[in-house]
Amino acid sequence: MKRLVTVRAHANIAMIKYWGKRNEQLFLPTKDSISVTLNNLETHTSVSFSSDSHDCITFNNDCSKTHAQKSIREFLDKIRKIFGLSRYFTIKTHNLFPTSSGLASSASGFAALAIGINKLCDLKLSKKDVSILARQGSGSAARSIHGGFVRWHKGVCLDGSDSYAEQLFNENYWPEFRVLVIVVSKKEKKVSSRDAMQATVRTSACYKQWLEESALRTQNFIAMLKQKDLYGLGELIEEEWLGMYNAIRSSYPAINYWSEVSEKIIQAVKDLRGQNISCFFTTDAGPHVKLFCLEKDVQKIKNYIMRINGIMQIITCSVAGDPCVLDNQKE
Ligand code: DP6
Repeated sequence: MKRLVTVRAHANIAMIKYWGKRNEQLFLPTKDSISVTLNNLETHTSVSFSSDSHDCITFNNDCSKTHAQKSIREFLDKIRKIFGLSRYFTIKTHNLFPTSSGLASSASGFAALAIGINKLCDLKLSKKDVSILARQGSGSAARSIHGGFVRWHKGVCLDGSDSYAEQLFNENYWPEFRVLVIVVSKKEKKVSSRDAMQATVRTSACYKQWLEESALRTQNFIAMLKQKDLYGLGELIEEEWLGMYNAIRSSYPAINYWSEVSEKIIQAVKDLRGQNISCFFTTDAGPHVKLFCLEKDVQKIKNYIMRINGIMQIITCSVAGDPCVLDNQKE
């Protein structure tokens, strides 16, 4: 009988962003970031030992050699090297939301995988070390090891041993807090965030200034979060986004992840604020827009936003708890 571990992990959306690495191999970021883990963006991953002499990977019911497959394979090679393992794995991973279009599927995917391998191989890693491991699959995955509001410390050590995420507040801290994920297009993105952030670090004239400003913003953000001040947080989220947006847009070659629909949604958010509805936005490496608001305003915001042509779906999320092992059984 074969041992099988199935893990559920959630994606996270950064409010203080990770964009740029100080070490590409180890996925060490240039700055701290803060995110919220979201309950309706889930990945389920099952992990077992393979009887073949290679890894067998099924990604969203597809076992062909896609880009996602390649990065999972590289991650498994890395794990074997770090822990001196010789066995191959069978991985079946499935996202319950659109993949690779700026919806942070790599975060939940690599977090679930790191947790699953830790369990299957009995590595006995602490949460901190699982975060360090997940980080080496995709940076933002370091944060999806936790539920709630999460901070990823950039760290200063060259070996990355102090670059991990920790929980600031758990999922029960702010029950009224909501994130609306406005899905604009389900197409795969053209430039990966990995390549785009590299170009930004190398070529954008305003990147350094964003890093400096963001360090101060991070402190203010934590202070506002302690007070559950949505307005104060919202202003910082949008300032942070604008800095990232300007840095990405001013890099060479210029990258544009946003569409006309994304811009219309951003304008609608400003209109809503004019109507005294507290609602703030961010975007990532894709055209989708993520809104931060309170439960009491969700319906009004959705009604207003849904009138914009080109919106495919609105996913209403609250704060998720920790990832969990769904199955740990023999097949
Ligand atoms: C814009 O974690 O996908 O979502 O580490 O190269 O895999 P790699 O990048 P990834 O980048 C996410 C960037 C972001 C902002 C964020 O989540 O902080």
